[in-house]
Amino acid sequence: MMLSDRVVHKWLIHKAGSLKRLVLVSEQLPEPAKDDVQVEIKAVGLNFADIFACLGLYSATPAGAFTPGLEFSGTVSALGESSQESPHGFRVGDPVMGMTRFGGFATHITINHHYLLPLQDGWTFEQGAAFPVQGLTAWYGLIELGHLSKNQVVLVQSAAGGVGLQAMDIIKKQGATAIAVIGSPDKAAILRERTGIDPSHILVRRKTFKTDLQQALKLLFRDGLDIVFDAVYGKFFKPAYEAMNPAGRYVLYGAADLMSEGNRPNYLSLIPRYLMRPRLDPMAMITENRSLMAFNLIWLWEDIPLMHRVLKDFISSKPAPPHIGRQFDFSDAPAALRFFQKGRSTGKIVLTINS
Ligand SMILES: NC(=O)c1ccc[n+]([C@@H]2O[C@H](COP(=O)([O-])OP(=O)(O)OC[C@H]3O[C@@H](n4cnc5c(N)ncnc54)[C@H](OP(=O)(O)O)[C@@H]3O)[C@@H](O)[C@H]2O)c1
Repeated sequence: MMLSDRVVHKWLIHKAGSLKRLVLVSEQLPEPAKDDVQVEIKAVGLNFADIFACLGLYSATPAGAFTPGLEFSGTVSALGESSQESPHGFRVGDPVMGMTRFGGFATHITINHHYLLPLQDGWTFEQGAAFPVQGLTAWYGLIELGHLSKNQVVLVQSAAGGVGLQAMDIIKKQGATAIAVIGSPDKAAILRERTGIDPSHILVRRKTFKTDLQQALKLLFRDGLDIVFDAVYGKFFKPAYEAMNPAGRYVLYGAADLMSEGNRPNYLSLIPRYLMRPRLDPMAMITENRSLMAFNLIWLWEDIPLMHRVLKDFISSKPAPPHIGRQFDFSDAPAALRFFQKGRSTGKIVLTINS
């Protein structure tokens, strides 16, 4: 069969604004361009950015129609004429994992070889699809921006989530201590099982967060936090910021508190939360000698040498295979996004494609 006769099935949203607008479409598979690799996707990793983008709440969303999906794994199915000369020397049939600025919710992807890396030995496709974005988020935030080092104390919000579990692994390997925050007590069991964390270092996010945090620090014989790794923001931001030591680094990488429930954004609930969002005074930050750092990994995709250097450092640290919390069939992508949106998940949610 000619390559161009082959078909790609993908989830498409013609105009952001509602999860209900996601439709499954079929198109001709394009020929890979010179530096491209074509991948037959086996698993797709879900990210909040997919939900934010579908709801029209994400500034990095492509204009017009788009296919969600930032990370995937699969096997190389075709190569552009120059892509074999890539540092990895990909061949047809190679198992790979990769990241993309949307387009991952598909049975095939045609992508520049820079955005692919070999699937780690012994990992499943699901684990591969769970790794690039969430793993790199944890590594970039903690190591590149947080300058995490031995004996430090780090507060990790959503510690039982996909990014959170990767962060917990990195913190442990660096010889630092985590205080792990979860949204509901039922997540403590998986957190303990995966990380071996002492129960006194687990906090449930609730009204008494400020005093719970002070108590956890006291049990560790510490005055304050060295790093906060947070994608929740909202009313838990200030208590954590104020619990930082001088020279503390607050690494903020999301605002899940501004996530909207349901198929469409609920602006009545979102707008007051947005307007009342916590803010810092830079002058006071100088006096307190603390910093706030924020990042969006998508910008790393634009700086390929930096992205490769960060990925190489991370992979050299021999990361543990990600924990898969739940799998959905590719055809159930909207249901998977709705489940993820509820905030009940632990580990990574993936879509699997059985061909
Ligand atoms: N800046 C970046 O480059 C970057 C990259 C990747 C991810 N992120 C951000 O990191 C956050 C999570 O990342 P992820 O998509 O990979 O998922 P994830 O790490 O698996 O996190 C999912 C968890 O987020 C927590 N959460 C907190 N508030 C929530 C809310 N209002 N609604 C639903 N869940 C809530 C829930 O755990 P608990 O209730 O236990 O806290 C949920 O299980 C998102 O905010 C995302 O935008 C940012």
